[in-house]
Amino acid sequence: MVREALLQSESGHTLDPQDWDAIRAQGHRMLDDMIDYVANIRDRPVWQPIPDDVRARFRAELPRQASELGDVYREFTDFVVPYATGNVHPGFMGWVHGGGTAVGMLAEMLAAGLNANLGGRDHIPIEVERQVVEWTRQMLGFPSEASGIFVTGTSMANLIAVLVARTTALGQSVRQCGVEGAALTAYTSRAAHGCITKAMDIAGFGSDALRCIDVDRFHRIDVAALRCRIALDREAGLNPFLVVGSAGTVDIGAVDDLVALSALCREEGLWFHVDGAFGALGILSPMLAPRLAGIESADSIALDFHKWGQVPYDAGFLIVRDGQRHRDTFSSPAAYLRRETRGLSAGSPWPCDLGPDLSRGFRALKTWFTLKTFGTERLGAIITRTCALAGYLESRVLAEPRLELLAPVQLNIVCFRYRAADSNRVNGDIVMDIQESGIAAPSTTLLDGELAIRAAIVNHRTEARDIDALIAAVLEFGARRSASEDGPVPELEQSPPLAM
Ligand SMILES: Cc1ncc(COP(=O)(O)O)c(C=O)c1O
Repeated sequence: MVREALLQSESGHTLDPQDWDAIRAQGHRMLDDMIDYVANIRDRPVWQPIPDDVRARFRAELPRQASELGDVYREFTDFVVPYATGNVHPGFMGWVHGGGTAVGMLAEMLAAGLNANLGGRDHIPIEVERQVVEWTRQMLGFPSEASGIFVTGTSMANLIAVLVARTTALGQSVRQCGVEGAALTAYTSRAAHGCITKAMDIAGFGSDALRCIDVDRFHRIDVAALRCRIALDREAGLNPFLVVGSAGTVDIGAVDDLVALSALCREEGLWFHVDGAFGALGILSPMLAPRLAGIESADSIALDFHKWGQVPYDAGFLIVRDGQRHRDTFSSPAAYLRRETRGLSAGSPWPCDLGPDLSRGFRALKTWFTLKTFGTERLGAIITRTCALAGYLESRVLAEPRLELLAPVQLNIVCFRYRAADSNRVNGDIVMDIQESGIAAPSTTLLDGELAIRAAIVNHRTEARDIDALIAAVLEFGARRSASEDGPVPELEQSPPLAM
């Protein structure tokens, strides 16, 4: 009876299309449109404000009934595509965003088709991830017992590193007993990314247990001050356990003295982690690699393939020198995750033994495609070129009396401002004006209380003409904003919205 009822309802019961030819045609259209989007990205504004009626469309009721795929796709082309972040565009210079590639986009589609779950089990997608781990190990000069794992981004990779350092310092029993009373302290520089503070908070140490050490004028950690602070903490009965060095600070791209930090950590018996969110892949650039000396002796390194590696979001990564310590921190047996020596449950250890995630997507595929298709030499040349573009921007700022450089340019980030009486307000407005104009998308940061226009050149599509457009826009909006200090703000031109 039950079987009969099931048989009767079997036609059209799955979510697969009734008409495969129709979805094939729709899929080809989507692919063509998206390739056109990337190919013609310069024709669009970098970013544009979202009209209220468009935003309102995304406050709709739960869709209980089916819709035509073509109609949903039309909503995507008309209301999602024109209002994306803009980081595919060569004029995007805000924060530290990678530009992605057509190759990475295609690989994402293939990964979605396979729908692989990389938490564990014995299948080739996991071997693809292991292959990328091995390549990253070779790039960074880590030993063969190193382990690595893809995560969302460096924020997550830094958190995992803090947890591995904690387990190393306190032993595996910390996983049952917690950190209470351990009085562990960690160290980084004032210029380090805020996600390290957050990691200390989430890991249960509290952010006060992170000592943010002073930096020199190049924003590199003051190693002597760090040594003193560690000694003071020891005298006070605390237990220093971790130093986080930066290979490319978020504000201005400073690289700490990693050789000195590594030596200090060895002397003091501390875990040495490097936040190399974007900077670590500088190792692929023959020009930058010498500046990263010492990174090869870190205990762990966090990095993002989605920044300088140009892999589409997201592709964060953590590599740990001693894979056993990494596994000791996260592996947890469960009957339903039993490992075998053959069959689909073989291949232990699994990625779920290296981090908090059990279900995991196939981030490795787009990274594998990117590394193989372009090769590390070409990716390294792109990284070198973004630094050359930053050098060009620096020279344009230095040559323009209305502009002022606010920090030394060390990698691919330039911090500068338009000279004005009410400088912080004017420069904040200039950045918003430029973003809204669609010409470029710089961001801002505060350096010693001074608001800087911050241009991080990460995108492989960026060219000298994009730098020229940024400078021209800063000067134009700067003049308008300065003129408006005593009067109403002049009307700004808005770019018309562009659908696909
Ligand atoms: C130095 C540094 N660390 C950490 C992060 C956070 O990385 P994610 O956004 O991938 O989590 C960033 C982001 O730009 C960064 O520049």
